[in-house]
Amino acid sequence: MLLLSKDDIRRVFSMTDAIRADKEAFRLFSAGQCKVPLRTQIKAPKYDGTFLFMPAYIPALDYSVEKIVNIFPRNSGKNIPTAPAQVLLIDGTNGMIAAILDGMYLTQLRTGAASGAAFDLLARRECRKGTVIGTGSQAAAQVEAMLTVRILEQIHVFDRNPRRAEQFAQQMRASFPYFSGRIVASSSVQDAVCDADLLITVTSAETPVFDGTLVKAGATVSCVGAYQPRMQEMDPRLLCRASKIYFDSQEAVLAEAGDIIIPLREGIITENDFTGELGEVVAGTIPARESENEIIVFKTVGIAAQDLVTAMRIYDKSVAAGIGTQWL
Ligand SMILES: NC(=O)c1ccc[n+]([C@@H]2O[C@H](COP(=O)([O-])OP(=O)(O)OC[C@H]3O[C@@H](n4cnc5c(N)ncnc54)[C@H](O)[C@@H]3O)[C@@H](O)[C@H]2O)c1
Repeated sequence: MLLLSKDDIRRVFSMTDAIRADKEAFRLFSAGQCKVPLRTQIKAPKYDGTFLFMPAYIPALDYSVEKIVNIFPRNSGKNIPTAPAQVLLIDGTNGMIAAILDGMYLTQLRTGAASGAAFDLLARRECRKGTVIGTGSQAAAQVEAMLTVRILEQIHVFDRNPRRAEQFAQQMRASFPYFSGRIVASSSVQDAVCDADLLITVTSAETPVFDGTLVKAGATVSCVGAYQPRMQEMDPRLLCRASKIYFDSQEAVLAEAGDIIIPLREGIITENDFTGELGEVVAGTIPARESENEIIVFKTVGIAAQDLVTAMRIYDKSVAAGIGTQWL
């Protein structure tokens, strides 16, 4: 069994690789080739914690995966993660555990890559300004994904905590020295959203974080947060202005994401407004962008197929490069 740390993964696997893996995952998922039982939840009320077990199996790839993510909000401030995670990659031909991968980093990669895949497939070719709202643990991979698929002139980041946004902008400038454009912290969310060609929301907010009427014609928006039915980070007015709305998994979004569930319940949108899943765009069975001026929204809640294909591709590259620690 191979143990793969964040550093190991970074040595062999790029954001370009992750975007390719996510596209494959979305295509297989939408073609019904991924078996995903409901995740198992066990509550630990004594510590305000939740243990989450997320399995998936793709027979066509002969791999299965089990992601373990434990949500312990009280870890905040203790210098340990609030959502520690590991991914077990299982050889589907014999049930042997092939690898254990750093689940926090893998999640950041595959979640950034979901936005990257959406922008690659749906955004205008010519984009100048990218914006990320929310500068927490998922945000760096979101910035990297934007930079991977479009040649941008500027990236704006915004957080309700301005000091955090400023520190994050600084960190991004250091992380991507090859980017010749500007990476700046916006002082207002309006400033961040106005004129953005690519817009990502990746916050823990429970109510909309921006004014949907400010989004410019032709923009592509990826909504990554709001993973519970009561949570919203997207202004529903944006959905009314969007000519196309895509999901990673329509079933999962309609079960989990307040961003879509609430406006649907309130009659602001109907299911007829849904265009389909990104995997269907990858397969070529539904259209992508059809005009320069349309606003396009992608809503992702994250699916286990992304974890499986990403883990498998990392494992293949690590074995080929002799990276990682052999155990047992
Ligand atoms: N779609 C997926 O596959 C996927 C995967 C992982 C995490 N997530 C979700 O993404 C979101 C962000 O995750 P994270 O780990 O980065 O969280 P985090 O707690 O590390 O960071 C969240 C950030 O959002 C900011 N924020 C909250 N409300 C805001 C507002 N109104 N305006 C601007 N900024 C605001 C916070 O200040 C914080 O910096 C969460 O909802 C998480 O559940 C989604």
